[in-house]
Amino acid sequence: METISIVIYICIFLSTLFSYPLIKKQKKKHEPLVKLPPGSMGWPLIGETLQLYSQDPKVFFTDKQKRYGEIFKSHILGCPCVMLASPEAARFVLVTHAHLFKPTYPKSKEKMIGPSALFFHQGSYHSHLRKLVQSSLSPETIRKLVPDIEAIAISALDSLASGQVVNSFHEMKKFSFDVGILSIFGRLDDKYREKLKENYCIVDKGYNSFPTNFPGTPYAKALEARKRLGDIVSEIICEREEKKLPDKDLLGYLMNSKDERGQVLTKDQIADNIIGVLFAAQDTTASLLTWILKYLHDDRKLLEAVKTEQKATYEVNDGGKRPLTWSQTRNMPLTYRVIQECFRMASIISFTFREAVVDVEYMG
Ligand code: HEM
Repeated sequence: METISIVIYICIFLSTLFSYPLIKKQKKKHEPLVKLPPGSMGWPLIGETLQLYSQDPKVFFTDKQKRYGEIFKSHILGCPCVMLASPEAARFVLVTHAHLFKPTYPKSKEKMIGPSALFFHQGSYHSHLRKLVQSSLSPETIRKLVPDIEAIAISALDSLASGQVVNSFHEMKKFSFDVGILSIFGRLDDKYREKLKENYCIVDKGYNSFPTNFPGTPYAKALEARKRLGDIVSEIICEREEKKLPDKDLLGYLMNSKDERGQVLTKDQIADNIIGVLFAAQDTTASLLTWILKYLHDDRKLLEAVKTEQKATYEVNDGGKRPLTWSQTRNMPLTYRVIQECFRMASIISFTFREAVVDVEYMG
């Protein structure tokens, strides 16, 4: 966790199409060079790809940050890129100057999630999908899930009761995966949940590994597991189509949606977006929960105050005999403030990718 002192890594893939050829052209004309941030572009063609994958990526980025500061250039997976690691830079790229960038992920990652996932798109397809995801997370939908989410939380805590040493982040990942599955598929048959979990774990392991199709490598295994995930989602869709149930979960929204031209989504588009949302939801939620645990552990007084607030609700519910209600979740002022403060303080997203659509000047 100590290496996560970096707030956000934003890898902006400064497009070879725009800036790099431009720089080369300028060099030829003996015009002044565009000033690039410090850093190393590594070897011709492969850049610093091997350095990144031969160690923990966090170590690679932390070393670079120590050496060059919060903005540095590199060359990874065939792309000249600039890495930004500060909240100000994240705001610049994602909020105030978002129009200068478009979402472009390395092909290896796009292939793993699924090319039709909303992250990789802009325009009407993106906003159509975004609305569907947002609808599936509306308060009316979440309200009905509160008792099920509580049951998942209790089961997660029960599994920790053996007193064994565990990795908090891994445990939080298991919890957030189960909640993700619940909000995507509703109450899903155990057989499907287990198969999804097993294959998703393989995809998760291979996602940040060196992208080679060589059999037996984590990346190749992850691609195979990704295919199986698509097949499982297709099977679930077929089963639902037979039952003709108008479900109010993400899968239901995706299956019943039509765009402005009356087009429905294909099974592949649905699978890519389901896996994409699971990906977006799992590590982020697990990371935030882990930080909350850490901060509360470090501040005993605050921990006691949160416990007192939670205990009051527990007692109102007859010592947990009655399930937590939506209105109770809306009435936990201290817990809510702790969550908000952790959002402010913690670094949650490890990195995201953008491609500059024009030459961008940042901090001179
Ligand atoms: C602590 C929790 C979370 C944090 C800090 C977080 C943060 C973010 C950030 C910073 C982005 C923008 C990434 C980019 O544009 O490159 C993003 C996108 C997204 N997140 Fe989350 N997220 C969290 C939880 C979730 C959950 C629970 C879900 C789904 C149920 C979700 C679904 C999405 C989706 C679908 C996008 C893409 C939106 C788009 O392209 O318009 N996230 N998230």
